[in-house]
Amino acid sequence: MNHHIKDIGLAGTGKKRIDWAELDMPVLRKVKENFAKKKPLKGTKIAACLHVTTETANLMITLKAGGADITLCASNPLSTQDDVAASLVKDFKIPVYAIKGEDNKTYYKHLNACLDTRPNITMDDGADLVSLLHTDRKSLVDNVLGSTEETTTGVIRLRSLAANKILKFPVIAVNDASTKHFFDNRYGTGQSTLDGILRATNRLFAGSTFVVCGYGWCGKGVAMRAKGMGANVVVTEIDPLKALEAVMDGFRVMPIAEAAKIGDMFCTVTGNLNVIRKDHFLKMKDGVLVCNSGHFNVELDLVGLEAASKGKKIVREFVEEYTMPSGKKVCVLGEGRLINLASAEGHPASVMDMSFANQALAADFLVKKSKTLDKQVYTVPEEIDKEIARLKLSSLGMKIDTLTAEQSKYLASWEHGT
Ligand code: NAD
Ligand code: ADE
Repeated sequence: MNHHIKDIGLAGTGKKRIDWAELDMPVLRKVKENFAKKKPLKGTKIAACLHVTTETANLMITLKAGGADITLCASNPLSTQDDVAASLVKDFKIPVYAIKGEDNKTYYKHLNACLDTRPNITMDDGADLVSLLHTDRKSLVDNVLGSTEETTTGVIRLRSLAANKILKFPVIAVNDASTKHFFDNRYGTGQSTLDGILRATNRLFAGSTFVVCGYGWCGKGVAMRAKGMGANVVVTEIDPLKALEAVMDGFRVMPIAEAAKIGDMFCTVTGNLNVIRKDHFLKMKDGVLVCNSGHFNVELDLVGLEAASKGKKIVREFVEEYTMPSGKKVCVLGEGRLINLASAEGHPASVMDMSFANQALAADFLVKKSKTLDKQVYTVPEEIDKEIARLKLSSLGMKIDTLTAEQSKYLASWEHGT
């Protein structure tokens, strides 16, 4: 079996960590049990480009239990957990192409190795496999039934392909399932981003001014958790509705040019580029921390920062200190790559449970229904989304009410008024 990983000797630790994550993934376990019985993915080749974490490992094992022939590569050069990659190869016989810290050339070599398997389904986090299938690897498109997409930035890229009428197969936007972004983007990114900042720096949040750029699903989670740690949270936005929401949630809102002068820590989660630029870095206080938790490493203008600075040095793992002309220091975390996966372990298993149950069931859906689908971006069918919510609630020991017949009739009627 071909693979390219850091060190197969790390498999022992990886296996223990994969088992630990599985304990907190009850919905995915249920899907795995059903897949093992019914083998709905039998004969389906899947190429997955996801963050190589313990949670992703459990998804890969589930897809394999369903009969899929699966190959995995990383969706970010800095998010791979090398012990997990080793265990997937050694203990589960799943080919993995991913090494933490790989350069861009190796990153693309790994994506191409996955595509060399001539997949029927691709599973992306950021749309890099789909992008290759629309450029360098067009000849493979005829084998592809469809694709699934994990994250907001990937869905934006895919909607752009569809709007330009060049999307070559149907895509399921897993990110847009309620059981994905309500929980993964908000509570997952909220907790794991702070975890990443803490592990990289061990700085005190209490009393600090924490600037969150972007008040979407991820930004709300980061702001909420930073507030919970005692930080004074400032939000920057470009959307008036989101800005208003942040104001009414109790946060100060201002342009980044103003926030740059008062922040102690900055985190971008916009999915946009050059959100913090040279002029902003030049205004910052001495010793500030700047990081990103959005998908691509384009949210901080590090080229502009480097050009404006007198020099840079690594002061601890995942912390690079830039010296500005004034002598002040600006510390960039994790090379501007998503900090929750670079210096921490990404989202906890309990939220990835729902995201990856969506992924597994979306793959099943594509196998069953791809012939009936257009070359469009689809959301996960509502019955799958609701079923995942029901299973998660039940795994948490929670029960809810059901409508009485009288209530159902009332909600479908117009006759009752004042
Ligand atoms: P979202 O669309 O809900 O929110 C993005 C917000 O950023 C929007 O409110 C938008 O108005 C705002 N914005 C855009 N440009 C801005 C600018 N220049 N300044 C300030 N605000 C700006 O998206 P989301 O679901 O919150 O995802 C955000 C990013 O995080 C995406 O790249 C997504 O792929 C990524 N993501 C990362 C993780 C992770 O594990 N780190 C998890 C989920 C999503
Ligand atoms: N994205 C964010 N956290 C993740 C995790 N733990 N595993 C895979 N993808 C993720």
